[in-house]
Amino acid sequence: MAKRVGVIGSGVVGRVLADGFLRHGYEVMIGSREPEKLAEWKGRGGERASLGSVPEAAAFGDLVVLAVKGTAAEKAVELAGPATLAGKTVIDATNPIAEAPPDHGVLRFFTTFDESLMERLQRLAPEARFVKCFSCVGNALMVNPDFGGQQPTMFICGDSDEAKREVSEVLAQFGHEPCDMGGVQAARAIEPLCILWCIPGFLRNEWTHAFKLLRQ
Ligand SMILES: NC(=O)c1ccc[n+]([C@@H]2O[C@H](COP(=O)([O-])OP(=O)(O)OC[C@H]3O[C@@H](n4cnc5c(N)ncnc54)[C@H](OP(=O)(O)O)[C@@H]3O)[C@@H](O)[C@H]2O)c1
Repeated sequence: MAKRVGVIGSGVVGRVLADGFLRHGYEVMIGSREPEKLAEWKGRGGERASLGSVPEAAAFGDLVVLAVKGTAAEKAVELAGPATLAGKTVIDATNPIAEAPPDHGVLRFFTTFDESLMERLQRLAPEARFVKCFSCVGNALMVNPDFGGQQPTMFICGDSDEAKREVSEVLAQFGHEPCDMGGVQAARAIEPLCILWCIPGFLRNEWTHAFKLLRQ
């Protein structure tokens, strides 16, 4: 039986990742506050694609993806249900972007360097196995991006080694090289990479880059 993925959030990231999982043979349910607005996505997705509420998608997934607006992420985890998420790997693609506009191309966050959004989410759902992933690259480059044969680095972190192994398998399918940065606290460093990634976009309309870690 195909592995089931519950995607929470129906924005561009939720839909891009949902399409990626469908392409790689998974069964996918997108969970939204208004699932009816995704009828066209379901029509395109075929029989392995389905729609539900946020708690339904959380319950459906063996693997859960959190892809909601950063300011709504805590609410979405509460809605999904910490008990439902217990023991499940949760790919956290969110960034704590504040409502205020960027300053000279530099996004503003509502978190601090001493507390990331993923740490807040982990506290809300202590038994969920959160893994920060996909937060530091644009949605157009999340699934099998073409960099002429080179694989971008995807910085990941989280407290569960088993969950990070599971996410690394997904990353191998999606054409990224995982780079494990440690426990949940490392999200304090990974989430701000989104600020850096977006600067060329806001300043020069350049959105086609990704990070690569070089090693000697
Ligand atoms: N855009 C990118 O290229 C990119 C790249 C990396 C990471 N990210 C991060 O990925 C996340 C999703 O980004 P996005 O660009 O797809 O769209 P977004 O506008 O940041 O988020 C859209 C999603 O957030 C949910 N949402 C909004 N307000 C909500 C609320 N009050 N309560 C519950 N859910 C709410 C919506 O769910 P409903 O379906 O219920 O309406 C919608 O699906 C963000 O945290 C973003 O920072 C984005």
